[in-house]
Amino acid sequence: MERLQKVIAHAGIASRRKAEQLILQGKVKVNGKVVTELGVKVGPQDKVEVDGIPVEREEPVYYLLYKPRGVISSVKDDKGRKVVTDFFKDVDKRIYPIGRLDYDTSGILLLTNDGDFANLLMHPRYEIEKVYIAKVKGIPTREQLKQLEKGIMLEDGMTAPAKVKMLSINKQKQTAIIEIRIHEGRNRQVRRMFEAIGCKVMKLKRERYAFLDLKGLNPGDYRELTPHEVKQLRALALSGGGK
Ligand code: URA
Repeated sequence: MERLQKVIAHAGIASRRKAEQLILQGKVKVNGKVVTELGVKVGPQDKVEVDGIPVEREEPVYYLLYKPRGVISSVKDDKGRKVVTDFFKDVDKRIYPIGRLDYDTSGILLLTNDGDFANLLMHPRYEIEKVYIAKVKGIPTREQLKQLEKGIMLEDGMTAPAKVKMLSINKQKQTAIIEIRIHEGRNRQVRRMFEAIGCKVMKLKRERYAFLDLKGLNPGDYRELTPHEVKQLRALALSGGGK
């Protein structure tokens, strides 16, 4: 037996909190009867409806994809470009990405059909540490890297403290490879942070997401997360994203 709001969240209809609101608003029925209490539990045989539409009950699934460059972090694209769910043709569940990576960014992307889990990991308060490797045009000075670490003003506000490490430089080509660890997940954040110090990002890869890495995977490969990894991610998010 599972809580009604969890069933709704797992079906990808709403976050758990939103699901609670739907229940309180009288929009949810169990076996044809409106339920407005939050404590109700339902089993696999119970028929749940939201706004008169039956909720499809799916087992929650969790995947880690090595997203290649040139793929949209979405379940469909109006322009017919490749999307991340194209790599999951053999998965019959309605999965979607947890957050996004830019079209040209490669690396770790998690996908799930568990709305509750997705919201937890994406919640700004709980944001998990992500490690990116950026190849940039220009060689930033120590001062500039410090600026990135302390926080830098972008058009949507100051960035939170980050950890930055210069991995290598190519003096001839005037490029640098830099590791940057951030907890936030704003749109194009890493690219914008480097732009703010005058270095254009030429290549970007998300190499780690919390304790998860890309070991054993090639671009386009995916694997299921283990139940233990799912549990660890949940615990990490709830404890403050590993900050
Ligand atoms: N930051 C970016 O700029 N792009 C990404 O895809 C992820 C983080």
